[in-house]
Amino acid sequence: MRLLPVESQLDISRFRYRSDAKMALGSQLLQRYIATVLTGKKWTDIVISKTPQGKSFVANSPFDYNISHHSELVVVAVRPDGKQIGVDITSTVPPSNWTMNWMEGFSQIFSPFEYSQVTSDSTGNGEFFLRWALKESYSKAIGMGLNMDLAKLEFRNLDTARLMDAAKDKTGTDVVGAVAVQRGWSNSAQLWIDGVAQDRWHHEIFMLNNNHVIALATHKEGVNEVEQVRLRNLTVEELMSRALPFGPAVAMQPHSNPV
Ligand SMILES: CC(C)(COP(=O)(O)OP(=O)(O)OC[C@H]1O[C@@H](n2cnc3c(N)ncnc32)[C@H](O)[C@@H]1OP(=O)(O)O)[C@@H](O)C(=O)NCCC(=O)NCCS
Repeated sequence: MRLLPVESQLDISRFRYRSDAKMALGSQLLQRYIATVLTGKKWTDIVISKTPQGKSFVANSPFDYNISHHSELVVVAVRPDGKQIGVDITSTVPPSNWTMNWMEGFSQIFSPFEYSQVTSDSTGNGEFFLRWALKESYSKAIGMGLNMDLAKLEFRNLDTARLMDAAKDKTGTDVVGAVAVQRGWSNSAQLWIDGVAQDRWHHEIFMLNNNHVIALATHKEGVNEVEQVRLRNLTVEELMSRALPFGPAVAMQPHSNPV
């Protein structure tokens, strides 16, 4: 904890569950790590701020990045050239406490076309979770988060069945190391808003072997269409290689364990 400024330590200490606090800690360390790599500045000289809508950025730096976390996995996506980027990681399995008709509660976030895809899905819940992740990654790229009408974002050309099958394929590529193995990848999704194709946007989906999907949204300009965005696992040693202490750690309240 002493590798973070006191305000960040206090933010982390406010989480009720240890698992959430750990993800917040991972998020803060990862942001500081990429900032030192991309700016060459010292760990303790990095200033991380948030827009009024909540998107983190590094003050006086040319790059854009975005963070997402789920089930103890923390993902950061970066555009060194400063073009907008957003990322979302989510599980492809509904929480066990969701009721039978949980999907109905989300009908308002889909366009009519998307809702028909979601409700006639032969892959289980793939259509729902892949579309959700795509929407969230775009909304985070433009810095709005969920403060926007998600039903306006319609994704077409989504190869959900192939991706969900690929996620089960144990021979998939081990790109990201021990934490999560990438099983499937696609860049076919196209975003339409109010019936207009958003040709300047690029979307990628990564299926991980532990029932997770990562969706990425960024500006097409500067992205090599043929090559997929590089996904890699960062070791704790790499993360720590640039870290410096701010001072003594703030005393923390003990966390409850997640229920
Ligand atoms: C952003 C949002 C979609 C994230 O949803 P989520 O699935 O719970 O969380 P994720 O793990 O995918 O993403 C969390 C990260 O999103 C980032 N984030 C927060 N708001 C964001 C925004 N408007 N745009 C882009 N990224 C945002 C943060 O970096 C956060 O990570 P951190 O807390 O470790 O710094 C959701 O929190 C949201 O829409 N919030 C609304 C924003 C809001 O109400 N702001 C009010 C002013 S504070």
